[in-house]
Amino acid sequence: MTASIRRWALALLLAGCCNALAHAQPAPKNATGQEWWRHAIFYEVYPRSFADSNSDGIGDLNGIAAKLDYLHDLGVDAIWITPCFPSPQVDFGYDVSDYVNIDPMYGTLDDFDRLVSEARKRNIRVILDFVVNHTSDQHAWFLDSKSSKTAAYRDWYVWHDAKGPNRPPNNWLSTFGSPAWKYDPATKQYYYHYFYPEQPDLNWRNPAVEKAMFDATRFWYKRGVAGFRLDAVDTLYEDPQLRDDPVLPGKDKFGRPKLDEKYNKKLPELHLALQRLRTVADEYDAVLIGETWTNDVKELEEYYGNNGNELQLPMDLQLTKLTFSAKSFREHIKAVDSARGWPTYVISNHDIPRSYTRYGDGVHSDDIAKMMAAFYLTLRGTPIMYYGEELGMQNNDPKSKEDVKDPIGVLGWPKEKGRDGERTPMQWSAGPNAGFSSAKPWLPVPESAKTHNVETETGNERSVLSFYKKVIHLRKTEPALIEGSYIPLNESDPNVLSYLRKSDKETILVVLNFSATPQTPRFDLAKLGFPSPKTEALLENAAGAPDGVLKSIKLDAYGVYAARISDAAAPHN
Ligand code: NOJ
Repeated sequence: MTASIRRWALALLLAGCCNALAHAQPAPKNATGQEWWRHAIFYEVYPRSFADSNSDGIGDLNGIAAKLDYLHDLGVDAIWITPCFPSPQVDFGYDVSDYVNIDPMYGTLDDFDRLVSEARKRNIRVILDFVVNHTSDQHAWFLDSKSSKTAAYRDWYVWHDAKGPNRPPNNWLSTFGSPAWKYDPATKQYYYHYFYPEQPDLNWRNPAVEKAMFDATRFWYKRGVAGFRLDAVDTLYEDPQLRDDPVLPGKDKFGRPKLDEKYNKKLPELHLALQRLRTVADEYDAVLIGETWTNDVKELEEYYGNNGNELQLPMDLQLTKLTFSAKSFREHIKAVDSARGWPTYVISNHDIPRSYTRYGDGVHSDDIAKMMAAFYLTLRGTPIMYYGEELGMQNNDPKSKEDVKDPIGVLGWPKEKGRDGERTPMQWSAGPNAGFSSAKPWLPVPESAKTHNVETETGNERSVLSFYKKVIHLRKTEPALIEGSYIPLNESDPNVLSYLRKSDKETILVVLNFSATPQTPRFDLAKLGFPSPKTEALLENAAGAPDGVLKSIKLDAYGVYAARISDAAAPHN
């Protein structure tokens, strides 16, 4: 056992003894007896970019703690912090070199404990990011693994002989642009990495790996963590025979042949591992969120497990890839809403261009951002927001290759600019560096930070931020939005997406104009129990209120209208 592996084992042991009682979370069920995560607003924090408390240009845990009041006022119930563990930062934390500590760049374990306890005072839970598929090549396990073919940890990673001189074991490719195998001249074998070469894949077929990883989750649960977002679950297992992936027509963005990743992605074994991970999570009433890139709703359903025994919240990331139209969103939501399991909606994260930029047209972008908020925050399901989305933060892509920090942007420039653009500092004010840091931030802030920032928008009733606050407030207070069913309306309308949320206490109508031209959708709700519907507006943007009894609603470009409806003819309405 190396000294650092001994330290890791000791840390796990001590955490078990000292923290077991210290960090109990708020009750797991809410007032209506449901699991808390069904009605929580989750908020992704990218710690490098959220708030810098020590003026080094990089965000940190104390910075996050200082902003908890803001998050509480916004209505956030849980923050998911992307990896803040020790890491060489090749992939900005997704290359973990120690699963049971905090990277000094972000603070200390004490800072973390303080953050959890301050968050708890505001009824905010803390979710960590668990990088399950791979470690850093600087992790003690890999350093040992690489030291010799007979090393204790050799089988913790996926090693294999060459297929022939200078030939890797098979044709698998790394999603980050290189081959998926790296040759180690010292031990004369290749190791497998689905991501960067500095991120060797763990061998989940080795029970010792699974045990060590499960113990790492216990370490954090005992410190008060309420769950994990599981990174890259799709790639947990590889085909034991290492068969070549079938080659598809065409080239990928790095100019390599396209592969059908049938032998290194979504292998059935991964579901059994998720079930076992869930058993551990259940010991702590914890929630598991999945980074689940699925091709269809059937694949998404698999991640809940046949008996609801895998992930409670597999993210519906397909939503981020849809064509922006009422039709495609309507069809997709209908399918997800009727699937097994509780929907988990996401419109932005640290790997894809910001929703404001993806959906925006440069003319109505603020209205589109509001419409998207009204859309995904009034659906049945759990939303996961991305920091700054509530401000209308836009992507700020690097202007030249020299400016790129994300290695895939360097490798793939100019076609692939990397992910820096969606990771820029949170915009707190119109002041220097958007109020993120008094030092030069690690990534530049865009010009739009002058208008789209917390301070400026807080004082403006019509800002994107004020709109988000209104929708979030409604979502938390209206029974139909909390527990109501989802009923699509006007399903052949190409421009306007409309639906009801209906509980036994009330019914709410949501109407969203997905087009740049004014629309006047008509409604006939007689069959749904409202022959003469009366409206009580709850939320409006670029919409005209209907006169008297609801027949139609006028909406300007990307207008939003939501109202509680009741029937004028009913005696007690
Ligand atoms: C998904 C994470 O979201 C991404 O940022 C990271 O680069 C890869 N997984 C590898 O961990």
